[in-house]
Amino acid sequence: MWLKRFAISFSIVLVLALALSGCAAPAAAPAAATEAAAATEAAAAAAPAAGGELEVFSWWTSGGEAAALQSLFDAFSAKYPGVKIINATVAGGGGSAARGVLQTRLAGGDAPDTWQVHPGFELLGQYVEPSYVAPLTSIYESEGWKDVVPSALLDLMTKDGEIYQVTVGVHRGNGLWYNKKLLTANGIEVGPTMSVDEFFAAADKLKAAGVTPLCVGDSGIWATSQLFENTLLGVIGPEKYKGLWDGSVRLDDPDVKKAMETYGKMLDYQNEDHSALSWDQAVKKLMEGGCAFSSMGDWAYGEFVNAKQKDNEDFGWVSHPGTAGSFMIVADGFVLGQGAPDVENTTNWLKVLGSKEGQEAFNPLKGSICARTDCDRTKFGVYHNWSMDSFAKDALVPSVVHGSAAPADFQQALNDAVTSFVVDRNVDAFANGLVAAAQSSGFGK
Ligand code: BGC
Repeated sequence: MWLKRFAISFSIVLVLALALSGCAAPAAAPAAATEAAAATEAAAAAAPAAGGELEVFSWWTSGGEAAALQSLFDAFSAKYPGVKIINATVAGGGGSAARGVLQTRLAGGDAPDTWQVHPGFELLGQYVEPSYVAPLTSIYESEGWKDVVPSALLDLMTKDGEIYQVTVGVHRGNGLWYNKKLLTANGIEVGPTMSVDEFFAAADKLKAAGVTPLCVGDSGIWATSQLFENTLLGVIGPEKYKGLWDGSVRLDDPDVKKAMETYGKMLDYQNEDHSALSWDQAVKKLMEGGCAFSSMGDWAYGEFVNAKQKDNEDFGWVSHPGTAGSFMIVADGFVLGQGAPDVENTTNWLKVLGSKEGQEAFNPLKGSICARTDCDRTKFGVYHNWSMDSFAKDALVPSVVHGSAAPADFQQALNDAVTSFVVDRNVDAFANGLVAAAQSSGFGK
């Protein structure tokens, strides 16, 4: 209270002082000189940090990811050429390896200035709760971002009234990508949506023709967990899917078991070398005609763009079987490390990420859509416009595999259960394992 009163009386004093000094001001300076002085002042206010460093920690190492990250570095360096960027990446899609490295650094008091994060449980549980990050609410206010970032997204980044992340793009996790020429050569045409049955019909046809229907790259287990997560959404639908994470639907529900069976059946159509490939190598294999479909978030789009493939000519997309009408949110953002060595540079970096220009440069390359609602649609191609429409009208659901829907211990338990299921195909063990994990994580009944 005293602080508030102090602030109010301080501002009254300030206003009075300014008014008084205005009264006492000498005769007005010539207009040109005033303008010049104002210009200098403005330039000084907008002056870039003199130099120093900025360490950016992420897992963006695939061809498409690295190109998109570079666009952010370019946008930053154009404004702050004197700052040396340290590109601290740890390879491994979905952050599977990066998060462990980061935790070790954070625990050891060696935080990077800024790091990649998903909103929801990952941000709030792993970084806000233990005070590893600083609030960014004042930047949201000074930049006017509260008016342009959807409130549902703001909620996922807010704790006790403070916002902790700047989101640069929103991926759609439930995509099914395909090699268009390969499908056409095999007499398969994909319509605007695809049911689970339609997928299996196409897969059988391809298999009979000696073509591998499904490409998976699960050298990082998260990629096949994502195939499961997408299939779960497709089989049980968005309402029930959301119920799993608030505890109102059990993970051994008969429909969940049906989804597990469907996932198991899908695995029968995957490439033999799946465990030797990363997610992006699987997408590359698809581009080269080594398989027809791949279920992946639209960071896959970044790989197609990076390889100069043409939308709806070389490759196509549809919602993962059964998931039309849902948008699985996988949003990417960055934080300000608590006690970051380069606070000013990091703040400027976050301002670039949150800006319209920054997001319009980054997202066409990354495959995600802007986190802001005011980006210029004409700067985006057919895929992005399709995804923006989906985001505007479809059921928005969170991803466990990408850290938003459930705590980290459950995310890990899901990956472990999937690892076993890929080998033993035991639906009951899979379901019981997830029920137990949800209970011990605190949200399952
Ligand atoms: C991230 C994406 C990234 C993908 C694969 C996801 O967790 O949100 O930005 O491209 O993992 O690495």
